[in-house]
Amino acid sequence: MKIYKAKDYNDMSRKAAGIISAQIILKPDCVLGLATGSSPIGTYQNLVKWHQQGDLDFSQVTTINLDEYKGLPRDNDQSYYYFMNEHLFSKVNINKDRTFLPDGTEPDSAAACQKYNEIIHATGGADLQLLGLGHNGHIGFNEPSDAFEKETHCVTLSERTIQANTRFFTSEKDVPRQAYTMGIQTIMSARKILVVVSGEDKAAAVKAVCFGPVTPQVPGSILQFHQDAILVADEAALSQC
Ligand code: GLP
Repeated sequence: MKIYKAKDYNDMSRKAAGIISAQIILKPDCVLGLATGSSPIGTYQNLVKWHQQGDLDFSQVTTINLDEYKGLPRDNDQSYYYFMNEHLFSKVNINKDRTFLPDGTEPDSAAACQKYNEIIHATGGADLQLLGLGHNGHIGFNEPSDAFEKETHCVTLSERTIQANTRFFTSEKDVPRQAYTMGIQTIMSARKILVVVSGEDKAAAVKAVCFGPVTPQVPGSILQFHQDAILVADEAALSQC
């Protein structure tokens, strides 16, 4: 894994957006794997800005998102569908018919996962997959477990993840307990992977992911086996490395 040190969140976001725009410029009809959470918001802001300046064209881009809460309607402002519209899709010239997320409104987990796998396969997979990192080293919603899951599956969120995500909801009981997420094999099939991490609270996770043993107990550690994985982190997130 190549590690790039950024000064702070803004610097991390500029660098990450630069890497994504290079991908779009080099391959205008690329497939971008996208992520939600606070980590990529600044990255999306830069992409939007460069698009508005006329420097970035999303008209041929396809996107596949990592994950979605199970049971949240799309118009709930905490659904990842809502997040992506709010932070990127409604602000750039992307064709909405080519933006995909797991269907959190589908109560049948097996059907939702199978449908999303078919969509991912039909796109040909991500040219570049953007990732954030959970405090326990999770990627997407692949929580620490005894085995790496391959494709899209339904997960029960860990207590730590529920607590971390409570800040976005009115109270902890409103945080969905389950989510649909891309599997590790799908993430690892991306031609390029870009991880963005900031803040001292992620420092232990960054150390474990980049330098610890590769284990499903730290799902992001599998990225050490990817041939083109880049981690852009600020100084605080790299403080234990
Ligand atoms: C959530 C998302 C992940 C994200 C992680 C970190 O659990 N499912 O995709 O990477 O949180 O979020 P944040 O960037 O807000 O710290």
